[in-house]
Amino acid sequence: MMSNESGKISIEVLQDDCLTYLRKGTGERVHLSFLDPPFNQGKDYNYFDDEQNPKVYWGWLKKILRHIFKFTINGGAIYFMQREKNTDWMMQVLKETGWTFQNLIVWKKLTSAVPCSFRYGKQHQVIIFATKGEKPRVFNKLRIDYPIQPWHKYERTNGIFVTDVWDDIRELTSGYFAGDEALRDEKGKRLHEQQSPVALLLRIILSSSMPGDIVFDPFAGTGTTLVVAYQLRRNAIGIEVDPSYVDVANKRLKSIRAADDISKYRNYYRFTSNLDEIWPVEGLGKYF
Ligand SMILES: C[S@@+](CC[C@H](N)C(=O)[O-])C[C@H]1O[C@@H](n2cnc3c(N)ncnc32)[C@H](O)[C@@H]1O
Repeated sequence: MMSNESGKISIEVLQDDCLTYLRKGTGERVHLSFLDPPFNQGKDYNYFDDEQNPKVYWGWLKKILRHIFKFTINGGAIYFMQREKNTDWMMQVLKETGWTFQNLIVWKKLTSAVPCSFRYGKQHQVIIFATKGEKPRVFNKLRIDYPIQPWHKYERTNGIFVTDVWDDIRELTSGYFAGDEALRDEKGKRLHEQQSPVALLLRIILSSSMPGDIVFDPFAGTGTTLVVAYQLRRNAIGIEVDPSYVDVANKRLKSIRAADDISKYRNYYRFTSNLDEIWPVEGLGKYF
């Protein structure tokens, strides 16, 4: 666990099975959860069988969603990321566990498309935004300085609102495009193939929480959610079953790398009306 100097923000990465953790029952206290589980697509995980019967896999996720629902305050939010082919499963299990659907976010990949011979190539991943209760308790309407496109009729001076299509966040694919942000060992090998981009968590946490809130990530991996929550002054709890990834996340949190520093994105969001409130910068030096 780490805290800021005033002791107000706490960031924890716990080595545990998330369902075991959630079953302990910790009351309604989470404001926002980000769910990025293994996708059951045959990837190589040390502590997870990624090739299960879909009914078993979705039954397991359903239990997790039900517990997170209990762990969430009224109006709290969840962002659930998956492969687009699983959208019907996602909708079903979210509904059955009490969540209210808000948006199906299309995260359009910038650098990779999976070709297919008998249907269109796949170039996006889906993220469902849902809430406990009809309306979110917090929804910060972000404005971004999205580049003017050739078909835009007028110049603009105050950016545009973020919509449910996110085509401005680069994924961390393998190879060159993963860039500096991808964590690697001394030989250059990726430490975690599924590491999420900092810019993705920045958008989610900024949109659906306030400083001081509690953010929960049951599949913390390399700790991307925690690294961003920390810089935005949110409390965060991450659960990760693989001890080697817990180590990676803790090291990453101890000393924030330039590649993880969110301040480079601030200018892009500068037209957001309450940016100073939702993204405090004063005293940042104290935290790192
Ligand atoms: C898709 S990755 C998440 C990557 C993460 N978003 C990041 O930025 O690094 C899913 C993670 O869930 C972990 N995991 C699998 N089963 C788990 C369980 N039962 N409880 C907690 N973590 C688990 C895996 O070890 C893996 O690191």
